[in-house]
Formats: sequence, C-alpha cells, structure tokens
Amino acid sequence: MQHLLLTNIKQLCQIETGTERKSRVSGQAMKVLPSLENAWLYLENGHIHSFGKMDEVHTIQCNDIVDVSGRMVLPAWCDSHTHLVFAAPREQEFVDRINGMSYEDIAMRGGGILNSARKLAEMDEHELYDQSHRRLLEVIRQGTGAIEIKSGYGLNLEAELKMLRVIRKLKENGPIAVKASFLAAHAYPLEYKENKAGYINLIINEMLPRVADEGLADYMDVFCEKGFFSVDDTDRLLEAGWKYGLKPKIHANQLHNSGGVQVGVKHKAISVDHLECVGPDEINVLSSADTMPTLLPAAAFFLGIHYQPARQMIDAGLPVCLATDYNPGSCPSGNVPFLLTLACTQLRMTPEEAINAVTLNGAAAMELENEMGTIAMGKKANLIITRPMPSPAYIPYDFGNNPVERMILNGAFL
Ligand code: NIG
Ligand code: FE
Repeated sequence: MQHLLLTNIKQLCQIETGTERKSRVSGQAMKVLPSLENAWLYLENGHIHSFGKMDEVHTIQCNDIVDVSGRMVLPAWCDSHTHLVFAAPREQEFVDRINGMSYEDIAMRGGGILNSARKLAEMDEHELYDQSHRRLLEVIRQGTGAIEIKSGYGLNLEAELKMLRVIRKLKENGPIAVKASFLAAHAYPLEYKENKAGYINLIINEMLPRVADEGLADYMDVFCEKGFFSVDDTDRLLEAGWKYGLKPKIHANQLHNSGGVQVGVKHKAISVDHLECVGPDEINVLSSADTMPTLLPAAAFFLGIHYQPARQMIDAGLPVCLATDYNPGSCPSGNVPFLLTLACTQLRMTPEEAINAVTLNGAAAMELENEMGTIAMGKKANLIITRPMPSPAYIPYDFGNNPVERMILNGAFL
C-alpha cells in the first residue's frame, strides 16, 4: 500500500470537510478559499485519505513522512481548455500582429489555424506525440494536474484522427487526467472555402462517426465566430455531436458578440469558453443554465483584445472558470500561475476567486469535480506543494516566477 504523510503544512488550501461535496463555486462564494493552517495531509493509494491540524497528527501511523514547513499545499490546477497538441510555433504571426495585422486578417490570408494545419499534416504521429508530451510535462511542473486538449489542426479525417490518437496516448501514458475535445469545426480548410456546407457535412457524416466509433473524444467543440462557424452551423454541429454522445464545450464570443453563448446553452454545453464579448443578455442566459462560463484572459492578453467582464459575471452570481487556451496562435503559454496574475490584475478577480476558478470550477468544466479540484477525502491526490510563501495571494502576486516546488501526482512525488 502506498502512503504519504505531509506535515507542518503552512496552509492547506481549498479543503472540503463533511460529507457534502461542492460541484462548483459561484458568485459571492468564490471569494472564499476554505483552508486549514498548520495542517497535515495523509495520502493513501493515490487518493486523499484524511487531513487535520498538526496538534492531532499523532493519530496517523505512517513511515513516509515529509515535512513541508512554510509551504502551501493546493489541489493541482485543472486547465479545461487547451490546444496543446500542435506541430510548430507561429512567432511570425506574432510579429505581423505587432506590425498592425489583426488575428482575423492573418486568418483571412490563409495563416492562423490553417498555418498550423499545414504544419501538422507534415509531421509524423510519433514526433507530434513527443513534442506534445514535452509540453505536457512542462505545464505539470507549473502545477497543472488535469487538462483538456482539443483537436482542430487536422481539418480532414486523417489528420483529425492523428491528433486525437496523440491525445489518447497522452491520456494513457499520463501522468495526469486528460480529456479530449473534437474540434474539426475550428476553421474551413482552403478546399472548402467556397463550399462551407460541404465541410460541415464532412464533419457530420464522416468524421463524427469515426471519432465516436473509435472512442477518441469526450467533447464536441466548435469555433462559433464571425468568419468561422456561424450560429446556425454550430447548431447543426452540436446537435450531430449529441447524437454520438459528445457533449458540447465550445469557443464562443471571442471576437464578436455573435450568439455563441446562446447556442451553447441551448445545447446544454458543459462550458462556453472565451467570452471576451459578452453583455447583460449573455450573463442572463448563463444565470439560468448549468453551462460553465470559462474565461481565457491569457489569449486576450496575447492578442491585445479587451478582457472578459469577470466582475459582472461573478457579481451576477455566476460561477467563473479560468483556463489557459494554450495554443500556437492566440496563447503560446500553458502557464496557469501567470493566468492567475492576469485574472487578478486585468479581470479584477481576487486571488481566492482566481484559485477557485482554476481548481474546482476547472474540474467541473471537464466533469472531473468528483475526483479533483479540492482537497477532500477520496479525491485524487494530484497536488501542488509551493515554494515557501506567506499566503495563497503570493501566487498571483509573485508573477513570472513558478510558485511550484514539487508536484504530487496520484499520491507520489513527481
Ligand atoms: O482559442 N479561437 C480559436 N481557437 C484558438 C486559437 C487557435 C489558433 O490560433 O491556432 C483560440 O484562441
Ligand atoms: Fe481555444
């Protein structure tokens, strides 16, 4: 039996006691990060067994004891929106944007997502896996303990399947929880530029059945955006996804207020993600839905567009989730600690709200809330041990530095 006892934890953050488990944190409650000071935490067989105050630690018998004085212990980050599988960076487009082009201009001339699709088509599956695995290990060292990864740089049957097989291999080889989203509806390939209905039919009639048949995806994603997939296209695609049991998790309202939130909620999306361009109507629609609003401020930062109205959403009582959007175009970073800093400085979320957004709410946005996202009895022991620091607020405060000293995955040190 595998055991580990952590002692003298300065602050054990995001705990849940009692038998009732929260499935998400919303509104006012997001300001609270339930914690225990001067604590111990006992792990058994990869799971959280128990925890308490240091003055009652004598009740635990364990040979493997690690003293973590001065450090915070938190549940690992749950990053619910990434495009971590890609073949090549796109730094030239970054320079083009500095020189005045917009993200949409670049996409219109065949760059952007289509650029990534060309690079991915040329790369063999093993190399794509090796690169992606390296990226995964890098984000784990920054605290990520569960992640969602999308296809969407394939844009034809073979290449989409290649991406999804790479994601499946990352899932199998771990060491963290991985969820896969099928995003063939990310951009129209050049050969379908004048035949958009043809590409949608290809997704619905050829790609979806294969993806579902091979069990390669957990979710269905669509880039619902002006110039990409319209609300009507999204409506058809999400309906088709549901027929194969793929729940929606979609890109919505990034560049325009174009109805993405409404169509996502209509199809009972697990989450609607981006939300730079939302107003009172969207907040209202989300208030009566279970769909998780997921904000991706690191993409807004990198594209230089305006930030998501997190304050209005939380003040309206909504839960808010944060995710990185790690991808080679709009956010070439999967760094959650930096995301937390952006959430605090640009979205005016408090450190507690930001940490709730990327732990329990991140888990909920991947349907992992029963296994991850809080320190609770029976949950998976994927944990962050920070460097010595005074409080959780120090994590977003100390920006640009990695707060993580060590990671525990499945109950063991990485
Ligand atoms: O979430 N907006 C659509 N998809 C990605 C960007 C993909 C890319 O530029 O490669 C995003 O920002
Ligand atoms: Fe994205």
